[in-house]
Amino acid sequence: MAGRTVYIETFGCQMNELDSELVSGQLRALGYAFTEEPDRADVVLYNTCSVRDHAEQKVRSRLGELRERRASDPGLVVGVLGCMAERDGRDMIARFPVIDVLCGPGELDKLPALLDNAVRTRGAIVSDPDSARERFVALQGGASRRSATLAAAADSLELLDLSRAVSPDDHSGSAYVRITRGCNKFCTYCVVPHTRGAEVHRPPDHIVDECKRLADAGVVEVTLLGQTVNHYRFEHGAVVTMGGIVQPQKGRAYAGGHRRDPFEGERVTTFAGLLRRIHEEAPGIARLRFVTSYPRDFGDDVLEVIRDSPRICRYLHVPAQSGSDAVLARMNRGYTVGEYLEFIDRARGVLDEPEKGRPLSIAGDIIAGFCAETEDDHRATAALLRRVRYKNCFIFRYSPRPGTAAFDRLADDVPEEDKRRRVNELLALQQSISDEVSREQVGREFEVFVQGVSAHEAKREPSRGRVPLTVGGRASEREASAPVVQLSARTEGDLIVVFDCPAGRSGAELVGSLVRVKITAARGLTLFGVLP
Ligand code: 5AD
Ligand code: SF4
Repeated sequence: MAGRTVYIETFGCQMNELDSELVSGQLRALGYAFTEEPDRADVVLYNTCSVRDHAEQKVRSRLGELRERRASDPGLVVGVLGCMAERDGRDMIARFPVIDVLCGPGELDKLPALLDNAVRTRGAIVSDPDSARERFVALQGGASRRSATLAAAADSLELLDLSRAVSPDDHSGSAYVRITRGCNKFCTYCVVPHTRGAEVHRPPDHIVDECKRLADAGVVEVTLLGQTVNHYRFEHGAVVTMGGIVQPQKGRAYAGGHRRDPFEGERVTTFAGLLRRIHEEAPGIARLRFVTSYPRDFGDDVLEVIRDSPRICRYLHVPAQSGSDAVLARMNRGYTVGEYLEFIDRARGVLDEPEKGRPLSIAGDIIAGFCAETEDDHRATAALLRRVRYKNCFIFRYSPRPGTAAFDRLADDVPEEDKRRRVNELLALQQSISDEVSREQVGREFEVFVQGVSAHEAKREPSRGRVPLTVGGRASEREASAPVVQLSARTEGDLIVVFDCPAGRSGAELVGSLVRVKITAARGLTLFGVLP
């Protein structure tokens, strides 16, 4: 649809950011233009998240605003993509008649066709207001879990990942690469297995090729994405092809607690094997990281590959969700606090090498105020935060989600004020731990990935003679000559370091590269460094 201008807004997780990037790439190839200003767009797309009600509320309020705009602009096309479309489905259309297109996260490869039809129909309505109003809908519905084998065999979504076009101009040195879609865990609070469907693993050759192409286009940092990345497993004997394309494969039941996969090698690519292949075959990726890890089923094989591969980051995001065994059981997490801590200690034992400038950074997620959580449970979670000493930990207030087991079977009985207080207490505790972790870095030397100018620099007046680079953006030629002062970078453990660009070197030349810095001070979560 040449000439149409699209605005796309993304809510929620990194998986959604990647989906939006891939969808935008496809639409761009079809001639759509993009704008950052919703008011100038002919097509407004929301790529939505259903993990917490708060994220859904934002989308509902955006849709409310669009109703007014539609009255004066009948040609406007509105699409809701992602988990909220899948979860709330057709009910959303009844509540928000402004919606023209609904597309679940498992159907995004169909979006160009849906949008094309919607744009034509809207065009017809503009010229003849009495013409029929149509909706264009692609949702997996109940079929998503009918049979993981069938779902994987018919996985045309793989084409969307394969369609990724990377050019040196459209990235900031970092990129996401999906390795697994969906989730099989069914934690009782979580909507993801219901919206994104069963776990399927992408063929390792596709993943490695994508990393190589990204490296060729100048990407330095790749983050592998999956809801439970360490469950990655691809059996080569069971390959299904469609139209010559190797199809993703369903997730197998996992032998809990195992340390090594005996079939790793020719027959099976495990997560450890995948990491090793990317590290060896795409050496241009100077930083390889992955999120999110599930605390069970994390073998020593993976830890050893990380230890032995200098370009794999010493960074793990392993959510505990709670520090109480009773709560973990109600959440159906499948491990105890003791087992979680066994993993953390094992990981630190293999990967924590601060004396080499390579401490292990651990990040987590906690849900506070889950069903029937007592003050004792809450204190146990605080004790877990102290024991693990996360670099940072996301702390969420429990949000009951329709369609989940907890919503159907467990009472949301912790009063709102208690939930809020517990969240605030945990946030304050984590803040003090993060501050301590930051201070421990003073005096250490790190290799850091330079992302752009610091937020502080970006706010400085241009009249001071500096032309700021865009934060996180790529340096343009015009900017290359500008004297940039303070740059922002990240360690492999995801700690933020700001440092002054040394005289005689241009900031633009450093952006997107790795440099060594010595940490001289820490303030809150920010480290200050100098180039030695
Ligand atoms: N309420 C609050 N937080 C949730 N999360 C997932 N579902 C819910 C929910 N219903 C959190 C978990 C997960 C992160 C992505 O979001 O901590 O790790
Ligand atoms: Fe949700 Fe649990 Fe799967 Fe994570 S592992 S996506 S919390 S069901």
